[in-house]
Amino acid sequence: MKRSPLISPELLERIIDASEDGIVVAEQEGDENILIYVNQGFERLTGYSADEILYQDCRFLQNEDRHQPGLDTIREALKAGRPCREVLRNYRKDGTLFYNELSITPMYDEDDHLTYYIGVQKDVTERIEAQQELERLKAEHGVN
Ligand SMILES: Cc1cc2nc3c(=O)[nH]c(=O)nc-3n(C[C@H](O)[C@H](O)[C@H](O)COP(=O)(O)O)c2cc1C
Repeated sequence: MKRSPLISPELLERIIDASEDGIVVAEQEGDENILIYVNQGFERLTGYSADEILYQDCRFLQNEDRHQPGLDTIREALKAGRPCREVLRNYRKDGTLFYNELSITPMYDEDDHLTYYIGVQKDVTERIEAQQELERLKAEHGVN
């Protein structure tokens, strides 16, 4: 069923590309979830073009920073086919750090088979750095 006859596929694509957040679709292939779609928001956020990263698992955004508590939660959710939301340290193509509030949603077909995962990447760097600064000041002044 078409949700709205007022939006053409072309307009829908422009809307998805205009989003400031990254929006990606991944498909399960063996142990990996490989990217089969990324919007322009993802390209702007990460500095990678779609051509460079399609068919790869999104873990390349972690570089060598692989010991993060949020990753355990993501692995468990993916194994169970459940949605999840975690903040991860990720790295742009130029190597700069950003905090990625990643939300992953599994999509099932009519026969209840898991077909795709949708990922939404939100840059929450300002919020996390403000929290870290607050914690630093509290520790400095002995406030709980
Ligand atoms: C749809 C989707 C989007 C994802 N997006 C990101 C992302 O933006 N950044 C990231 O570090 N990991 C992302 N991941 C998580 C990694 O692909 C991977 O599942 C995670 O690193 C845990 O698995 P691993 O231990 O095999 O690397 C995404 C996963 C899925 C399914």
